[in-house]
Amino acid sequence: MEFSCGKNTNNVAQRTPKIFILLAITLIILGIIPLHHTFKWYHATNLANHESEKSSTYHVEDMEIKIMDDETCDISIGEWIPNPDGPYYTNTTCWAIHEHQNCMKYGRPDTGFLKWRWKPKECELPIFNPYQFLDMMRNKSLAFVGDSVGRNQMQSLICLLSRAVYPIDASTSPDENFKRWKYVDYNFTLATYWSPFLIKMKEVNVDGPTKTGLFNLYLDEADEKWANQIEEFDYVIFNGGHWFSRCSVYYENNQLVGCRYCGLPNVTDLPSAYGYQRAIRTVLRTINNSENFKGIIFLRTFAPSHFEGGEWNNGGNCVRRRPFTNNETSLEGLNLELYTIQVEEFKAAENEGKKKGKRFRLLDTTQAMLLRPDGHPSKYGHWQNENVVLYNDCVHWCLPGPIDSWSDFLLHMLKFEGRGSHEKPQFMNQ
Ligand SMILES: *[C@@H]1O[C@H](CO)[C@@H](O)[C@H](O)[C@H]1NC(C)=O
Ligand SMILES: *[C@@H]1O[C@H](CO)[C@@H](O)[C@H](O)[C@H]1NC(C)=O
Ligand SMILES: *[C@@H]1O[C@H](CO)[C@@H](O)[C@H](O)[C@H]1NC(C)=O
Ligand SMILES: *[C@@H]1O[C@H](CO)[C@@H](O)[C@H](O)[C@H]1NC(C)=O
Ligand SMILES: *[C@@H]1O[C@H](CO)[C@@H](O)[C@H](O)[C@H]1NC(C)=O
Ligand SMILES: *[C@@H]1O[C@H](CO)[C@@H](O)[C@H](O)[C@H]1NC(C)=O
Repeated sequence: MEFSCGKNTNNVAQRTPKIFILLAITLIILGIIPLHHTFKWYHATNLANHESEKSSTYHVEDMEIKIMDDETCDISIGEWIPNPDGPYYTNTTCWAIHEHQNCMKYGRPDTGFLKWRWKPKECELPIFNPYQFLDMMRNKSLAFVGDSVGRNQMQSLICLLSRAVYPIDASTSPDENFKRWKYVDYNFTLATYWSPFLIKMKEVNVDGPTKTGLFNLYLDEADEKWANQIEEFDYVIFNGGHWFSRCSVYYENNQLVGCRYCGLPNVTDLPSAYGYQRAIRTVLRTINNSENFKGIIFLRTFAPSHFEGGEWNNGGNCVRRRPFTNNETSLEGLNLELYTIQVEEFKAAENEGKKKGKRFRLLDTTQAMLLRPDGHPSKYGHWQNENVVLYNDCVHWCLPGPIDSWSDFLLHMLKFEGRGSHEKPQFMNQ
């Protein structure tokens, strides 16, 4: 296969062709979207002219949404139902949209995908209310740690909040991968940490066998970039998964234990799920062992990509214009594997954490996103004739778009925290 990393790969690919294609590519897409491709972060001075827009885009009815959360309701299972009121912001009212997810700007012709909301099977999930969220976040701080899908979620949150207020740039470093925003009126800090593997890694070769890099992954060591700073946050949302199909060499206890598609002689090829499981465990263990972390950890579950009709690099695309219903698709292959690892590692950490008062939560959006093949940028992540090496993006999510629902999930869960009734297991919808 063209994108295999080494000679061992063929066997693996034959065993799990679909999965491999899906994942490998997914990741590659994440990789080819270059980090230096700057997106438009405006500074406080740019915000003044948005003042007038904020009142017109905010609907008073939002304040009156009834909170009907049923304490026994599992919000991870449900269906997408029509929502004529969406979307709640546009590319002109929100400046935080990453270029590659600004689908309307690049000519996406349909808007039907903006007109759905997530309806859990057993209850209502209220649409995100920015005022309620900001009110709960007074004097608090929230960090996103993970890959570009995590950044996608953070930008969605900033856009949803922009109906109420914009943050100022409070970054402590010029690095776009480590932004920090401040909502001054609420004394609320939002931060993002780029850590696509979540654990310590070294990029040993920028090209690698498949031009997606070759990485040394230290599976039992957390990435210091977040691990050293996590204690200052009240809430942290971790995500990861897409990068684990890249060519990697695995280390544990500083000893080489095997690799993923590395093609090195005498090095055992291990499944990506091996590296992923240990990485998630390392993250959760790091939190468990932190004496000073007093906040709440959310593990955001894996969001599947939706390539159809080919691989990412030979015509695979996501052209559907409607959500799936539950009977049209199911979680399988590597998606299911990664999700299962997250749920299992989460449960173990949650049990362990309870003894010491550590709070672990599962932000379980996997089933909801599995049903949204229509929510990706596809070819609308750049101008048609732009000379960029970008394939159809069926990994990230258009803004606005279905990823906005993750804030509905988050606010719902935060409300539960406030009411002290949250010890509810969430099971997979299988
Ligand atoms: C927003 O989208 C429209 C198309 O709906 C496009 O014409 C415009 O250039 C976009 N504006 C920005 C600022 O992205
Ligand atoms: C902002 O919140 C922090 C806690 O996150 C608190 O220590 C600080 O006093 C607050 N500042 C103001 C001006 O309210
Ligand atoms: C936020 O912090 C300030 C300063 O410490 C305090 O006066 C205020 O009551 C706090 N607000 C909330 C909602 O905790
Ligand atoms: C691989 O292992 C075999 C058998 O142990 C050994 O003969 C060979 O030299 C090794 N190759 C490399 C490149 O280390
Ligand atoms: C969790 O942390 C406690 C101490 O804070 C420790 O005793 C326990 O072994 C840890 N568990 C895991 C699985 O790391
Ligand atoms: C799938 O479910 C939808 C409603 O959720 C229903 O209208 C449709 O008939 C079902 N299709 C099949 C093949 O069962």
